[in-house]
Amino acid sequence: MFVEKGLSLFVAGFLALSIGAAGLEDLSQVKDWENPAPGVWKATLGNMKGELRYTDIAAEKPRLEALKELESVPFPFKEGKVGVLVSSDNRVMIRIPASADERLFGFGLQMDSIKKSRQVLELNVDHWSRGGGRTHAPVPFYISSKGYGVFFNTARFLKVYVQIGNRKDSKNNPPFVDRNPPPNEPQPGAWQAVPFADAVEAQVHGGGLEVVVFSGKSLLDVVSRYNLYCGGGALPPLWGMGFWHRVPAAFTADQTRAEVKEFEERDFPLDVIGLEPGWQTKSYPCTFEWQTKRFPDPEAFTKELLDKGVHLNLWENPYISPASRIYQAMYPLSASHTVWLGIVPDYTIPKARKLLTDQHYEDHIRIGVSGYKIDEVDGYDQWLWPDHATFPSGTSAEAMRQSYGLLLQNMLYTDLFKQRNVRTYGLVRASNGAASGYPFVLYSDSYSHSQYITGVSAASLGGILWCPEVRSAGSGREWLNRTQTVCFSHMAMLNAWSSGKKPWSYSDVTDKVRDVIKLRMQLLPYIYTAFAEYNRKGTPPVRAMILESGFKLNERVIAGQLDSEKNPYAEGKVVETTDQFMFGPSILVAPFYEKQGEQRTVELPEGGNWYDFYSGKLVGNGGKITVTAEGLQERTPLFVKEGAVIPMLTKAVNTTRQAYAHPLEVRVYGTVGGSFELYEDDGQTFDYQQGKYRIRKLTAANGKVVEEVVKDGAPAMFGPVESVKFMTQ
Ligand code: GAL
Repeated sequence: MFVEKGLSLFVAGFLALSIGAAGLEDLSQVKDWENPAPGVWKATLGNMKGELRYTDIAAEKPRLEALKELESVPFPFKEGKVGVLVSSDNRVMIRIPASADERLFGFGLQMDSIKKSRQVLELNVDHWSRGGGRTHAPVPFYISSKGYGVFFNTARFLKVYVQIGNRKDSKNNPPFVDRNPPPNEPQPGAWQAVPFADAVEAQVHGGGLEVVVFSGKSLLDVVSRYNLYCGGGALPPLWGMGFWHRVPAAFTADQTRAEVKEFEERDFPLDVIGLEPGWQTKSYPCTFEWQTKRFPDPEAFTKELLDKGVHLNLWENPYISPASRIYQAMYPLSASHTVWLGIVPDYTIPKARKLLTDQHYEDHIRIGVSGYKIDEVDGYDQWLWPDHATFPSGTSAEAMRQSYGLLLQNMLYTDLFKQRNVRTYGLVRASNGAASGYPFVLYSDSYSHSQYITGVSAASLGGILWCPEVRSAGSGREWLNRTQTVCFSHMAMLNAWSSGKKPWSYSDVTDKVRDVIKLRMQLLPYIYTAFAEYNRKGTPPVRAMILESGFKLNERVIAGQLDSEKNPYAEGKVVETTDQFMFGPSILVAPFYEKQGEQRTVELPEGGNWYDFYSGKLVGNGGKITVTAEGLQERTPLFVKEGAVIPMLTKAVNTTRQAYAHPLEVRVYGTVGGSFELYEDDGQTFDYQQGKYRIRKLTAANGKVVEEVVKDGAPAMFGPVESVKFMTQ
């Protein structure tokens, strides 16, 4: 067993290329592991000179001080068992052992399933619909059911053979099976079209590869250490937690004003209005300048919204039109190829960053714009620059494609907001490794509700935020169900850029839609603390059930039937259900979706009782339960853990501005008592990084809730506890 070497740093250097040292003919051992913090090991393979690492463009540096407070855990692999091969054609391949009973999860925003065992994946930034690993955020990080994680920290296309690819010299290959045995000749099992392989083999075409291994006490601990290593999680402003509405692309200022007024009149919460492409003089490619035919006085318009407590978010894609005033100066700082005929700036160059951010400051930030939606930074091949395009900094087209979404997040977050001590929250359509510190939420055009729910879980395994946005629906029920899902995600948003829908567009469900948006608003104190825990401890605020102790992933194996036309290798399938997730530390969300619009089963983790959120009724401990929309009066199925203490506003508010100083209701579930550390700060600046925050510990015991301030660095954000409800029936 590899012994953890305290916190000392080894010199990484090059590998000892002793042939056969990894026990496999042509591989070398990865020996030189640095150990920068407990549970974190790093190795450099090949030559990293000129290679871009995702952590180089993270929002913050690795949070080593927070990691150093965590327990030491052993290195997860037997010494010498991680192998490497640097091939003559400039490929670097790493081989990481994985046993047959090990299940591997992750690789970013994969919306088909979170389990990725026995698959070949191409982790390239692309539209989700391409599949096979290609997606908006193909984060090269996986976690194992054995309690460790592996991060490939190099901005390159990565091809990963996950427990696939049997070496001839492996000792762990499955037994040979004769596919066509003569009668009465027993076989050790069924013939497999894809025999199990005992490793994850990942390769890049390039000079080098950096690998970071994480270990922890639980899968949640592993993911949290990854997030801390990537700089900790994003802490959005409080307004980011409210309701978002994106208006149709061609809307004018007056139409937008009328829409905002209708939210007020219909008593619907609203915190952010998103403008889609038509706010610019030209789009696809973009000018980033206001279209005064639609928005004659942007400054007055932005101010008018802010006065109502409504923030403005602007859509853009990064490709620049010749009609933009920064086009000429940006031209020499851009790539050889265009996207939609717009130039593609090289934002690794400081001058290019300054040109864009000065223009954005002058036209948007100065007048009060709160953030951006960064579109079109993903794919397809036929839309983006070719892989052989050149960029003036010398950065390869491949590294640029893998990191362009990150570079944009980095530039806007750092140069426009953080530098001015103002927080932002926005959207981005491509991200990648080490993104946890960025307050940008992924979204997609793909629009399958069940995949959007899986996306909630997938995102939580790789330090990214995800919005299962609502656009339109085929029925009132679908509209309600989609709204219920999005209200328990990182961003509660309706994107009506093309559909023109409003939350009240389906009159049969309007009241129920309003109710769930209002419930999200009531839960603001709980949600905001969940994000603070992401920031401070790396704990994902919304997360996959596999990160919850006592949960068993629901998998169904469907054996393959030989069919010479449809299934000539008799390949089977494993169907996994990832249609529920945790919202904050103690609320399990099991949305109704698609065909399950009226009834569904819910898997409860074992090890403690679970209660109905609304009534406090005990629903079980482990096992499956069935819930119906009727039984829940068309509300979202929500279940709460034994001992949960949930701080809420006593009443829903219509903008987060009204949440400040608002009195609290504290709900307590179960019979054993528990506590909650309520986090508070100013909700809008980075002063919390200087210790200006407050923690109120709410402890429930013996029929009472006691409040104690355990950190007193800032005034209270919310009001006093006005009501306590012991929910258990
Ligand atoms: C799409 C994007 C949509 C919307 C649209 C505007 O690419 O996914 O959300 O912004 O562009 O043209």
